[in-house]
Amino acid sequence: MNGRYREAAEFPLLESSHSVSVRPAAVVILAAGEGTRMKSATPKVLHEVGGRSLVGHVLAAVDQLNPHHLVVVVGHGRDLVSAHVHQTHPQAVPVVQEQQNGTGHAVRVGLAGLAASGVQLPSGPVVVLAGDTPLLTGSSLVELVELHSSQRAAASVLTAILDDPTGYGRIIRGGDNDRVTRIVEHKDASDDERVVREINSGVYAFEQDALTSGLSRLTTNNAQGEEYLTDVLGHLVSDGDLVVAHVADDPDEILGVNDRVQLAQAGALLRDRINNAWMRQGVTIIDPTTTWIEVDVQLDRDVCIERNTALVGSTVVESGAVIGPDTTVDSCVIMSGAHVFKSHLVEARIGPDAAVGPFTFMRPGTELAAHAKVGAYVETKNAVIGEGTKVPHLSYVGDASIGAGTNIGAATITVNYDGVHKHRTVVGDHVRIGSDSMLVAPVTIGDGAYTAAGSVITDDVPPGAMAVGRARQRNIEGWVERKRPNTASAEAAKAAESPHTGSADQPGGAQSTPKEHE
Ligand code: UD1
Ligand code: CA
Repeated sequence: MNGRYREAAEFPLLESSHSVSVRPAAVVILAAGEGTRMKSATPKVLHEVGGRSLVGHVLAAVDQLNPHHLVVVVGHGRDLVSAHVHQTHPQAVPVVQEQQNGTGHAVRVGLAGLAASGVQLPSGPVVVLAGDTPLLTGSSLVELVELHSSQRAAASVLTAILDDPTGYGRIIRGGDNDRVTRIVEHKDASDDERVVREINSGVYAFEQDALTSGLSRLTTNNAQGEEYLTDVLGHLVSDGDLVVAHVADDPDEILGVNDRVQLAQAGALLRDRINNAWMRQGVTIIDPTTTWIEVDVQLDRDVCIERNTALVGSTVVESGAVIGPDTTVDSCVIMSGAHVFKSHLVEARIGPDAAVGPFTFMRPGTELAAHAKVGAYVETKNAVIGEGTKVPHLSYVGDASIGAGTNIGAATITVNYDGVHKHRTVVGDHVRIGSDSMLVAPVTIGDGAYTAAGSVITDDVPPGAMAVGRARQRNIEGWVERKRPNTASAEAAKAAESPHTGSADQPGGAQSTPKEHE
């Protein structure tokens, strides 16, 4: 079925796909820092928003630049970070920075590592950015590189205007043209400089020789005792080289994640960005603040998503389907016109116009054919459920295949586990499984067969047979009055035996007939 769906690359929800006219020679992603403020055993750049790691978002944006070479500078959690990057970007060269001596040092180490791996850079700029800015878009990177080459700048920096620039490096401008003269880190800035609201995003494009010469002149003579990459820009301006700034349209793009508060902020901003994009594509989202759609999800027009719903993993939803409220759908295919209501689904396929929920738990390998229905308090796993078949209430269907037009009575269980092995249940077409049946697998129920309610079915049932697997009922008359004398039950039984007299304690008792109690 996958072939029916668009490849993610052909359907850029968040990334415009106009390509850059100048391919960067290399992109260097800085990701060696510890991320101390996350207070986490997981390296910072591997934390996720929108179903993708922080560095994964940066890599997706960098893809728009189509660089010749890609370097990821790693340090803390280097093995995990390198392995993670390798999964999606096997061409990336991880370079270890043993000691985090600053962003300038990191770039020098990264370029040296690339050279040591035998790479000779072709012509083109070198782009540097950090691995913890998940909202940065490929378009902003493309715009920065385009500006850099059209201006023939030695260095270009992506900046943003923030209401609260605290903590960021400030862009200091001067001269007649109000050109960038240098960047000063917050900790090194004077009171006058701290008033500046234009900040350094930490994203740059450099001419190769300008970068190399600037890096060679860095010192640790500053408030943090680090080699600042930002100082390269000041050195270039002193040399008379041109440094330009591109102000990002959306200041949210530069949000760097340093702690879990910022992680949640970035997650919420990304959620809004994704939801807005889908709404513009023709998806109805009833309550965007409680709707969480991960980046790899694909939706058709006229999908409707009700409140408090998460669509995660590789989920695909076709036109006319309604999902939610209060639903999580993880890596499922929901086909056209299906309705999934207050449920939790993982790796399931829901056929056209099928209905699921409320309170259904679908585990991997569940496949519902068209017009099938799985209802309240039903759990399914590894189960193929045929066209128009219903499993409406309180059942477990695991390791089973069920034909078309079949009805599974309430509280039916496929008894699939003998304590050691799992076994399959096969149910044919147009079968009627009575309520509270135990189908003890391996077992096969033939087409058109019935099972009596409350049966324990241990043997195969031939097509068209009625299977009865339960003790016959017997009634022991008068048992309650003999064995439980003087109880309310015994009194009630006695009253039922004698002709009715009516009583204030039994409202309506005299008039009521059994029918009215049904
Ligand atoms: C940096 C900029 C600041 C800018 C801000 C934007 C410098 C000196 N300052 O500050 O002007 O406003 O980013 O977010 O560059 N890293 C390494 N190795 C190191 C040091 C850092 O790989 O030795 C990585 C970090 O893991 C991080 C990135 O580089 O991903 C930025 O480093 P960080 O220490 O966060 O810089 P800031 O102080 O935020
Ligand atoms: Ca930072």
